[in-house]
Order: sequence, then structure tokens, then C-alpha cells
Amino acid sequence: MKIAMIGTGYVGLVSGVCFSDFGHEVICVDKDPRKVEMLKAGQVPIYEPGLEALMAKNVAAGRLSFTGDLATAVAGAEAVFIAVGTPTRRGDGHADLTYVFAAAEEIARALTGHAVVVTKSTVPVGTNSKVAEVIRKAAPHAEFDVASNPEFLREGAAIDDFMRPDRVVVGVTSDRAKQVMGEIYRPLFLRDFPILYTDLETAEMIKYAANAFLATKITFINEIATLCEKVGADVKQVSKGIGLDGRIGNKFLHAGPGYGGSCFPKDTQALARTAQEYAAPMQIVETVIKVNEEIKRRMVTKILDLCDGSVNGKTVAVLGVTFKPNTDDMRDAPSLTIVPALVGGGAKVRAVDPQGQREGRHLLPGVDWVEDAYEAAKDADIVVILTEWNEFRALDLKRLAKGMAHARMADLRNVYSPADAKKAGFRAYAGVGR
Ligand SMILES: NC(=O)c1ccc[n+]([C@@H]2O[C@H](COP(=O)([O-])OP(=O)(O)OC[C@H]3O[C@@H](n4cnc5c(N)ncnc54)[C@H](O)[C@@H]3O)[C@@H](O)[C@H]2O)c1
Repeated sequence: MKIAMIGTGYVGLVSGVCFSDFGHEVICVDKDPRKVEMLKAGQVPIYEPGLEALMAKNVAAGRLSFTGDLATAVAGAEAVFIAVGTPTRRGDGHADLTYVFAAAEEIARALTGHAVVVTKSTVPVGTNSKVAEVIRKAAPHAEFDVASNPEFLREGAAIDDFMRPDRVVVGVTSDRAKQVMGEIYRPLFLRDFPILYTDLETAEMIKYAANAFLATKITFINEIATLCEKVGADVKQVSKGIGLDGRIGNKFLHAGPGYGGSCFPKDTQALARTAQEYAAPMQIVETVIKVNEEIKRRMVTKILDLCDGSVNGKTVAVLGVTFKPNTDDMRDAPSLTIVPALVGGGAKVRAVDPQGQREGRHLLPGVDWVEDAYEAAKDADIVVILTEWNEFRALDLKRLAKGMAHARMADLRNVYSPADAKKAGFRAYAGVGR
């Protein structure tokens, strides 16, 4: 199969690399010349474990290449994937589809024979039909089908998720598109990974329903955590106790500082917005969005409480700023709410993150960056664990506490136990929900 992949972000690049590893001939396109230059030089513009090696392997095998010229990539392709961003539109919470439609129009003009135009970006119900309209309008004689193929990979584990998915969802309206999509995903089908064929609208809805459900699950346990703190229960054990119930499952039940990232915040908002437009408001999702904002703000209060009510003039060591470990992605990370509140409150913030510094430098003004946790905590008044990177999971707590001016810890990921923190010399410790 000849495949063109439009957009080489977290989804497009991983998808393109993995499709080439399936044996397909893939050309990845990006309109950002800096990214294309890096990719051509064998460098990966994002941090995603394992990606660089897999990319190099497939480039060397002659199956994978990069270009800034969409027309070259699309000419002769049997499938063209749209994997551009769909951020929140300013003002109304809707998904901004500008990039999707712009890509569709460009693709239309570049089609040379029949192709399936597949939307991999997360797009509201009805968008794939609109993509078809855009193409038809721009190129009335073009031969094409559209397909919806939402992506479920997680940053930080993206390759494994792509290669061993829980399921692949494909929305189609023609046998031809179904056959092309079946051919593309054949290596997964042969290994018995479920492929679910639906219509376009259902595929689009599955993606939003999945993300809204997961965001709800996290928010549910975060709210339970708040109550646990009041009544003296331990949310970690509550999570374990309910997660062992097969109907509930143990994933996405870790209490923390609220969900963030490039998907849940924007996708819950877009879903709520779509539902409002169809006069079928999703009250649960709307509440989840609201509660999640409150949870993030509650974390600031927790830090202030540990610091006797104020961080003014105090040094705060922040461990981790990315929205989760194993990614450099900072989009909508809880740190973007919590750190500015601390800086605004007069704190001197010293941050450390294995991959977050490049983005963090722009997004978190007024923060000093250091290279390791001990350096961050030196003479600090409190250490705040915001992202549970592996290197923050096995700290020498005694050494950490010893270097601090005041040994206090806000462990917003429940990495350590209150007893261990106390034993190591922390005079004040607070986790989430325990
Ligand atoms: N990041 C995730 O974990 C994840 C997971 C599942 C689904 N998604 C969805 O996938 C989509 C892409 O997300 P992402 O995180 O990869 O975004 P991203 O912002 O990292 O990447 C988008 C890329 O598309 C490029 N682009 C935009 N318009 C283009 C055009 N006309 N031609 C060529 N390139 C163009 C941009 O330059 C950018 O490099 C979104 O809809 C997102 O919701 C993301």
C-alpha cells in the first residue's frame, strides 16, 4: 500500500512510522519546515520512547520518507491520512477544524487517482462527511472515498499501543474503502486484534465517548479522594478495592492533580459543545470538566496549606511539569495551572523535568530550571511532585529532606507513603486522598 500521512505530530509520526513497519510505503508530510528538516536528518521532533529507532529502521529499508510537499506525497497514494491538530477553538470550546479542512482541500487538488482519505485526527460527529464535501467542492472529478479511523494511542506508550491496540475503529461508507482499510491493518487483523467497522458518525462518536469516559473515571476517583481526605480514608486502597471489581477495572483510578494533556481537556469540551448544539446536553461531561478545574485549583490550596498559608518568598521545588511521564507534551498539563499560581503567590519556583524543559521554558515564565531533583530541593521550603517520572519514584528521601530549608512534600501523584516521608525526615507531607 502507498500511504500519505499528513501531519507528523504525536499521532501522525507514530502512525506513519508504524504503517511503514507493517511493510507499507509511507510518505509523511508536514507544513512545518523545521520538523521536516529534522525528520530528514533522522531526528525525531518529539519525545516518544522507541520512535527514533523504529523510524531509522524503516527509512533504511526504503519504506519511509518525509517531505514538506503535500502534492508529491498524495500523488499515487492509495490512502491519505489526515493527522493534523484539532485544538480547542478560541471562545466556544468547539474543536477547531481549520487544519483538517485546509488539509482536505490541499489533498483534493493533489489526488491523481482513487484514494481513501482517512481522518485520524479526533473530529466531532459529522466532520468526515464535511471532509468529503470539501474535497468534492475543490476537485469535483476526483475519485475518492472517506474513512474515519480515530486513534487511541497514548503518548509515552504510543508505539506499543499502535502495534498492539485494544481495537482499531474504522468508519466507512463503501466496500472499496473497507477493503483498503482492511489491507492497511492486515498485519493486526492477522494477529487477532479486533477491527471494528462502523459508519462514519459512529466511529467519530466512539473516540469522544472513550475519552469522555476515561476523563470521567479519573475525575470520579479525584472527587472520591477529596472526600477520603475529609473522612480519613486512603484513596489508594479505595482504588484497589474498587478496581479489583471486574466491572470497574483498575485502570484510570489513580487520584492526582486532575487530568490534562493534548486530548482529554479539548475532547471533553468539544463533546459537550456538540451535545449542546444538538440540544442533548451531556451533563456528566460538563460536570467532569468543571470538577477537573476545581481539582487543579485544590492542589494549589494543598501546597499553600503545607506552607502555613502562603508561598510568598518561599522556594518551591517542582518535580515534573509534563502532563504525564514519558512525554515532552505540556498541552493542558496541570502544571500550567499550578505553577503560575505559585509564581503569582510570590514563590521562587525551581523545576526539573526529564523532557519538559524545552516546552516548559516558554510556557512557565519566571521558573528556574535545574537538572535533578536534589538540586531543585536544595534549600527549598517545599517539594511538589507533579509528574510521576520514574526518576522521581525512587528518590533518596532522606537526602532530599536533608538538603531542604523546610522538609515538606506535596506528593500530588501519591508516589510515596506518608510513613516513609515522615521516616525520611519530612516534617509535613500531603498526598492526594489519604
Ligand atoms: N497526541 C495524542 O496522544 C493523540 C491521541 C489520539 C488522538 N489524537 C488526535 O490526533 C490529532 C493530532 O494530534 P497530535 O497530538 O499528533 O497533534 P500535533 O499538533 O502534535 O501535530 C499536528 C501536526 O500537523 C501538522 N499540520 C497541520 N496542518 C498541516 C497541513 N495542512 N499539512 C501538513 N501538516 C500539517 C502540524 O505542523 C503538526 O506538526 C488531534 O486531532 C488529536 O486530538 C492525539
